[in-house]
Amino acid sequence: MKSLKLLLVTLTILIGEFKPGYSDLPCRARDVGIDGRSIVCVCDANYCDTITKETPARGSFVAYTSTNAGKRFEKSYGAVNGFGATEDDDIIVEENKACIRKNVVLRVLTSSKKQTLEGFGGSVTDAAGINWRKLSTKAQKQLMSTYFGPEGLEYNLIRVPIAGADFSTHPYTYNELPWNDAALTNYSLSREDFDYKIPMIEMAKAMATDEIKITATAWSSPIWMKTNEAITGFGQIKPEFYQSYADYHLRFLEEYEKYNIKIWAITTTNEPINGVVPTVNFNSLGWFPRQLGRWVANNLGPSVRNSRFNETLILAVDDQRYIIPIWLRGMEKEDPKSIEYIDGIAIHYYGNFMPASVLTRIQKRYPGKILLSTEACEGPMPWDKHKVEIGSWDRAVKYTRSILEDLNNYVVGWIDWNLCLDEHGGPNWAHNYVDAPILVFGENDEFVKQPMYYALGHFSKFIPRGSQVVEVSRMSSATVQNIAVVTPEGNLVLVLQNTNDYETNVRIRISATRYIDVLLEPESIKTIEINPNN
Ligand SMILES: *[C@@H]1O[C@H](CO)[C@@H](O)[C@H](O)[C@H]1NC(C)=O
Ligand SMILES: *[C@@H]1O[C@H](CO)[C@@H](O)[C@H](O)[C@H]1NC(C)=O
Repeated sequence: MKSLKLLLVTLTILIGEFKPGYSDLPCRARDVGIDGRSIVCVCDANYCDTITKETPARGSFVAYTSTNAGKRFEKSYGAVNGFGATEDDDIIVEENKACIRKNVVLRVLTSSKKQTLEGFGGSVTDAAGINWRKLSTKAQKQLMSTYFGPEGLEYNLIRVPIAGADFSTHPYTYNELPWNDAALTNYSLSREDFDYKIPMIEMAKAMATDEIKITATAWSSPIWMKTNEAITGFGQIKPEFYQSYADYHLRFLEEYEKYNIKIWAITTTNEPINGVVPTVNFNSLGWFPRQLGRWVANNLGPSVRNSRFNETLILAVDDQRYIIPIWLRGMEKEDPKSIEYIDGIAIHYYGNFMPASVLTRIQKRYPGKILLSTEACEGPMPWDKHKVEIGSWDRAVKYTRSILEDLNNYVVGWIDWNLCLDEHGGPNWAHNYVDAPILVFGENDEFVKQPMYYALGHFSKFIPRGSQVVEVSRMSSATVQNIAVVTPEGNLVLVLQNTNDYETNVRIRISATRYIDVLLEPESIKTIEINPNN
């Protein structure tokens, strides 16, 4: 019984000992009025809930909890405990056979370090910009601040489409005219770059607490470069335009540089399978695996490396996890130089019926290449009854599970899709509507933050760039979904998810003799930052 009591006492023992440095503005909760949904937090020009990170004192921890029942980043505090001479945490398991599924013991192996993390973020699409611009200037600032600012999620990654995607009001590319303009003499940015993307990126950079690393991706080339001369369908780059399509990327880097926007990485085209197995009706460009290898080895790779943008990362494939091994092998077979030219592999979210362990296998086969998750959203499948499910906790659970699985399988960063959408999940010229963590209601000059926003924040806010993932082993029969990282300052951050409808006690052993105890509420996400120093 001693351990059980300890468990309970520990939770409350130090509450009040640390004075919060800031008092955060709480979520202005709105009941969405639909059975089975959680709340959303409402923001406008004058109000938005904030979250500040508190630094745990030596030998203590700060925890942040969000729940289906309505908590959002609720703070709690506790101390790191040491085992007495006769104590052993096996007791917790032994003594509680009756409720064994409710007691979890995790051991963090702080010296077994895995990948170093780049960060978390979202995408600056035309649709996000259009919704953002519906808001008053003050509310626009609130929206960007709640993602990028010091009192927001502190996002440090952005993905931006090169020209249009389906989340635009019309399909377009740069340099559509003149036809067959191989030298790209008429390359020019679009109205959407000036009205939406560049201003959004500039504001994000101004508010951010860390360098924002931007990944840029083309959905399609100008249609004159393509075999089918159409924006969608079965179509690939005509061989005579391989170099033009590589130059199309370099020109984008030059154009954005004029606005002081540095592109950290480019991907080798969005979802190449869509132009090979054409099941979608939006902007696409197909690459068969061997063609992609040829283009990267002969055109994109040398062009980037011999340019003054030589440090831009090249991330290959940019598609669902199940096609990645096939595409990489095809590229390698065609020309091993293609693999030398790439710095990493970009992965999408929608094929996650294949276990995440495939990512670990890819990492082992291509060591030295980073794995980056570049796109995720809920609601895109034909069988998704509702594109937008306002207030859905279930979708937050899926986001959290996906991030946990990715990080536990060598992924270094996770980028969400549209930063914000309207209540129907658009605009999208191809009617491919989906959900987003923030929905904008322009007529009321307000936006709402869904549970997915907080799910992402449980990672982005508390796991700074440069953190390293460490192994966690389970010492109980029950478990909870988890990740542990060591931050650059040497603190330990864990994110735990309890998907059960009952409470779970979790003991986290951080060394042979030291541990913390926390309670995971039903259907909750908890981030814990531990200062392990005595
Ligand atoms: C250059 O592109 C613009 C559209 O951006 C188009 O209106 C114009 O006709 C093009 N110029 C030529 C010479 O094709
Ligand atoms: C990129 O080019 C610059 C000179 O323009 C050079 O100093 C640098 O070492 C190059 N970096 C790589 C990764 O090749």
